[in-house]
Amino acid sequence: MKKYVIHGGRPLYGKVEISGAKNAAVGIIPAALLVQGPCRIENIPEISDVDFLLDILRQLGGSVRVINRTTVEVDCSHVRCQTVPYDAGRKLRASYYLLGSMLGRFGAAEVPMPGGCDFGSRPIDQHLKGLAALGAEVRVEKGYMCASTETGRLKGSQIYLDVASVGATMNLMLAAVLAEGTTIIENTAKEPHIVDLANFLNSMGADVTGAGTDVIKIRGVDKLSGGEYSIIPDQIEAGTYMTAVAAAGGEVRICNIIPKHMECITAKLVEMGVEVDEDGDALVVRRHGPLQRTNIKTMFYPGFPTDMQPQIAAVLCLAQGTSVITEGVWDNRYRYTEEFRRLGAKIQVDGKIAIIEGVEKLTGAPMEACDLRAGAAMIVAGLAAQGTSEISNVQHIERGYEDIIGKLSRIGADIRVVMVPDPEQKKSHIAG
Ligand code: EPU
Repeated sequence: MKKYVIHGGRPLYGKVEISGAKNAAVGIIPAALLVQGPCRIENIPEISDVDFLLDILRQLGGSVRVINRTTVEVDCSHVRCQTVPYDAGRKLRASYYLLGSMLGRFGAAEVPMPGGCDFGSRPIDQHLKGLAALGAEVRVEKGYMCASTETGRLKGSQIYLDVASVGATMNLMLAAVLAEGTTIIENTAKEPHIVDLANFLNSMGADVTGAGTDVIKIRGVDKLSGGEYSIIPDQIEAGTYMTAVAAAGGEVRICNIIPKHMECITAKLVEMGVEVDEDGDALVVRRHGPLQRTNIKTMFYPGFPTDMQPQIAAVLCLAQGTSVITEGVWDNRYRYTEEFRRLGAKIQVDGKIAIIEGVEKLTGAPMEACDLRAGAAMIVAGLAAQGTSEISNVQHIERGYEDIIGKLSRIGADIRVVMVPDPEQKKSHIAG
């Protein structure tokens, strides 16, 4: 078992290269199942969620050739298996995209009910409603979502989503690209990864228009053929490093990003007294003076992302005055606040609202990562806190952040991985 040990209170200086977007990659890798022929995917992040999905493709009979650290060539032409192995599929949330893509390809699929971070209830009714509208019969049996069609091919349809769900929008796009006829999905999510998936599918021969707006039109085609595609940079990874600089102070150049995707995060940091300068495909983030309070409401894109809520909360713990966060997407995304209180943060939570009274300093303490972004936020808080913090359960963080220890160390953070024997956690040695 690993722990991260941070000696905090040091400002950060230098530059960070942002990796490919996790939430785009976890949709694009299952999309490769729809493609006949080799499909080269570049700018893939080196994270465990990507490894899990590539392993599933291999287990289904696909060929996955690693070209270099960030490029793979996937060929699923010969896949015939329509059942995702239970233990593999349970490991992550995004396994639900295999349902849309396998159903689109084969007209039948069996995929385990998904795992992923625990933010309270995470229904998938909109995915299932949409697949039913496309002609699938879907039932849940022995932990599996089992979907089938009478004719072996889905049929285009009109679908209205009750909630602009990222997962449902992407899953239904995957299902509809090879369907017979045209599909129109209304009230779709507009996140950058939706546009990225549409661009990937179109570059392989699909006909998807409207991605990034709230109506997506998909004219079904008979076949997708191989090609090359490069995944967009990760908005949330970039935002996390921005909050790290905001919390710890210093000046860092955040490279390989799309500044437009960062505006919702930049605007809030600027309100808090952080300087952010755009320079081509980089942002220079600087914080030397005091942090000011602000209010945050998380929303669907282009609003402030829920996946940045814990990290910005870490910064607000050190701002002058009282800030209010309203979580607009998930029911229960404040479990990390209990850990922040160990550092001396003053936070009260009431349902979807958190009230943060800024303190002058945080002091390091042991924390347990309860999910991916909460874990990242604990790193941000630990970097700003005086003294030593230890973060356990870091497998959550490694699901979504490529080489976070290396990237932070290179900008001057004192953060190390410590291996802890499981389960006694008694003897520990430094692993670098
Ligand atoms: N919802 C429904 N029914 C559905 C689907 C969603 O009611 O069928 C509701 C959810 O309960 C939630 C809202 O709609 O209140 C949004 O859920 P969405 O489906 O958009 O979330 P998701 O697809 O499960 C993705 C990201 C999450 C991110 C959310 C919101 C992936 C793999 N996950 O989840 O990312 O929080 O969109 O932007 O793309 C993360 O990266 O840390 C992460 C959790």
